[in-house]
Amino acid sequence: MFMPVANSPGCPFTLGTSGDGNHAEASFLRAAGPAPSVILPGGLRARAIVSGQLARRLLLNSAVSRDARMHSRLYVDGELNVDGVIGTWVSTHNALNSYGEDHRRLRRPLAAALAHRQVKTMEPLIGSVVRAALDEIDRSPEKTIDLMDQYARKVPLGVMASLLGIRESLRNSFQRASSGLFATDLPPSQAAAHHHTMSQLLSDLIAEKRQHPDDDLASDLIAAADQEDQALSDAELRDQILLLISAGTETTVTSIATLLADLLGHPEEMSKITEGAATLEDALEESLRRHGPIASVPLRFAVTDFTDEATGESFEAGEPILINFASAGRDEELHGPTAPLYDITRPTSREHLAFGLGAHLCPGAPLARRETLIAVREWLHRFPKTRLAPGGATPLPSWITNGYAELRVTPRGSEDR
Ligand code: HEM
Repeated sequence: MFMPVANSPGCPFTLGTSGDGNHAEASFLRAAGPAPSVILPGGLRARAIVSGQLARRLLLNSAVSRDARMHSRLYVDGELNVDGVIGTWVSTHNALNSYGEDHRRLRRPLAAALAHRQVKTMEPLIGSVVRAALDEIDRSPEKTIDLMDQYARKVPLGVMASLLGIRESLRNSFQRASSGLFATDLPPSQAAAHHHTMSQLLSDLIAEKRQHPDDDLASDLIAAADQEDQALSDAELRDQILLLISAGTETTVTSIATLLADLLGHPEEMSKITEGAATLEDALEESLRRHGPIASVPLRFAVTDFTDEATGESFEAGEPILINFASAGRDEELHGPTAPLYDITRPTSREHLAFGLGAHLCPGAPLARRETLIAVREWLHRFPKTRLAPGGATPLPSWITNGYAELRVTPRGSEDR
């Protein structure tokens, strides 16, 4: 049976908490093999899956589970070191952290709620959120702005808050608590405080929607949860809405910022779009491949002892597994030696795992793609002379997401107002 080991320097490799070197770290790990042992912040040993091909096989393998309660005896006994941010991601009970029939029960209402509101019908909402944010920037006298705060964070939050029916006055509180769930450099007490705040906000939202149901996703999920054949407890319902907010906002914030930063930083690739040699959709897929918003989402566990035949890598029942989704996009085996370069006409751009694969494949991918494309297209239309401010890109301190804390740009280029 799998037993955790104490932290040690060298091998197994100790993962950094700051998140500013996620790609360098993944590249170093790929050189060590497809599934090296790593020590996660907090001291937990896990197998980091950094090979794209192995990640694909494990995501499709029912011998790998996201449910700690079902498949980690050490977790159940309280002996698995999952404090702080890892604890928050592992301990919730929702579609993400479930397995088999339980997963199908929890995923069904989410997938149905997202499908019910066909992404096409969400386009006017996305457009109005985008235009409101652009109008505000247009009115601002500032020459250089933080694109994260003034644009990228506003769009997915505005869309998600409208879909869920979250009141305007509570939106910033939700945004702050949601960002906190991705910060991996916080002490455990602060990570727990973010989780606690989010749980409280969600309990209040559920109570409000139970009393005054409306035409929104939160009310739909509550109605589905109350149906007898798929009844969900209040805690499960809270964790499901938490999943939608955490999975649907910070990730899309990052894909908007990354696509804009990639295009502004590579004028020769932008020209391919203006000259008709490629589309904005091509550029988005290349950005998702090269700098996927999600690096790793803790945590998976081996259901039984098993060996991956192609690599000979063996896993012990209960062993923690961390799939590195972003590493798959940089894997030279899949994308060749130019994998780190940004090339929107690359034939393998669409072969990425940015949205996962298999049972937990992201059900929000069509919405995320639409939001990102609308936000970036409208930005480039409104501010075609935008320049990146030199040294203005600061990575978010997180090994879960590849986001930016700050991205400074001059929307009107060198032109003075
Ligand atoms: C660019 C933006 C996005 C990225 C990169 C992304 C990425 C991912 C990934 C990698 C997973 C699988 C995690 C795993 O298997 O461990 C996932 C699952 C999920 N995502 Fe997304 N996501 C994005 C946007 C969204 C949006 C907009 C929504 C909802 C409106 C959403 C809802 C979900 C849900 C509910 C799951 C869990 C599904 C399950 O476990 O069955 N995501 N996402």
